[in-house]
Amino acid sequence: MKDSILFTPFQLGPLTLRNRTIRSAAFESMGKDFGPTQALKDYHVSVARGGVGMTTLAYAAVNRGGISFNSQLWLRDAIIDPLRDITDAIHAEGAAVGIQIGHCGNMTHWFTAGKFPVGASTGFNLYSPTFVRGLRKKECREIARDFGDAVRVAHEAGFDEVEVHVGHGYLISQFLSPYTNHRHDEFGGSLQNRMRFMDMCLDEVMEQATRYRMAVVAKHNMEDGFKGGLEIPESIEVAKQIERHGLHAIVLSSGFVSKAPMAVMRGRIPTGAMAYYMPMKSLPQKLVIRMFGNWMIKQYDYEECFFLENARKFRKELQMPLIYVGGLISREGIERVLDEGFELVQMARALVNDPEFVNKLHAGDMDTRSGCDHRMYCIARMYSDRMVCCHNCNDVPECIWKELRKLK
Ligand SMILES: Cc1cc2nc3c(=O)[nH]c(=O)nc-3n(C[C@H](O)[C@H](O)[C@H](O)COP(=O)(O)O)c2cc1C
Repeated sequence: MKDSILFTPFQLGPLTLRNRTIRSAAFESMGKDFGPTQALKDYHVSVARGGVGMTTLAYAAVNRGGISFNSQLWLRDAIIDPLRDITDAIHAEGAAVGIQIGHCGNMTHWFTAGKFPVGASTGFNLYSPTFVRGLRKKECREIARDFGDAVRVAHEAGFDEVEVHVGHGYLISQFLSPYTNHRHDEFGGSLQNRMRFMDMCLDEVMEQATRYRMAVVAKHNMEDGFKGGLEIPESIEVAKQIERHGLHAIVLSSGFVSKAPMAVMRGRIPTGAMAYYMPMKSLPQKLVIRMFGNWMIKQYDYEECFFLENARKFRKELQMPLIYVGGLISREGIERVLDEGFELVQMARALVNDPEFVNKLHAGDMDTRSGCDHRMYCIARMYSDRMVCCHNCNDVPECIWKELRKLK
């Protein structure tokens, strides 16, 4: 371990990170009135105190129509002061802080987004479920500007970095993916055309980021995870385009929330727990998930470093810094990824389970492992309540533990 780079600094564009670890954007579901709360602050400060190089506030919408959860952040001037309170507290712990920015596109409802859901193409989204209207060209330009303005707001709120969500089936990814993009204009058809909306958003983001000297990364799909979605050869071309835009790194992920959500993180989701936390006002969905969840949500077995094989293909083709995410829960796994030439690592579940994990890696040896056992309770509860590890709360009812024990 003598030559490990894990606890060496890294220059991410204009930002110096104290080590190679980043808490990946994993939706905390701790917002209120589309703004931050004390719980959100406490969690991220604990992760910063736990030794990460940078922590990332998850999944902030760039405008009102891009919101898919009531407990989500909407990055706007009105919440700059409370966000500044969080970023100051994180900086005081010696960590950097980023925020993921995105637009959910077709994955919302009128009553959450405050307007008719929009996406790359008109159609019906079974996931929400809702009808969706394809964006007009003028609206594409307006949303791209909202991405740029979100960078300004992030800067004023004290963030060091923004992570642009280009993957997971959110709006930019809905344009990139042949599964959701059926347009016949200059935004559809060829890969060049499908990248056009991303290009517009990244142009706006990079203009503002350069002005404010902020680091920018993109979270990108190596593949959507099903036939008819974005596949690796095209995705490598998209990554090269992101490189040409001058972003400072790419986070290599996969999966499509409205079609293959578990491809993002692997592991078998406890659908009983998911239904349990859904509110009674969503009774039809609660019953559907309870009865058919296991059949509707494709399950994937978990293994350590589950994206490494695909990530290597991108490492070969790109010169820019790459951030590995996916199945890191041990020192041995992290070292394996860094040895393969990835500059930084992101972790979600290891740091949901234990915000102190990075300090433990520092103090421990090659055998240091996280206590996360991938029962996926955190994600099941996140959908309707808040993100929390089943090992860190004492209000998990016995009926849920019964399901979790079976899934281990
Ligand atoms: C509770 C939870 C919420 C997540 N929310 C987001 C999100 O808002 N944005 C995102 O890009 N990825 C999200 N993810 C995916 C993670 O950032 C990460 O890519 C994935 O979990 C694999 O990393 P891990 O094996 O270290 O958990 C979420 C994951 C979890 C467990």
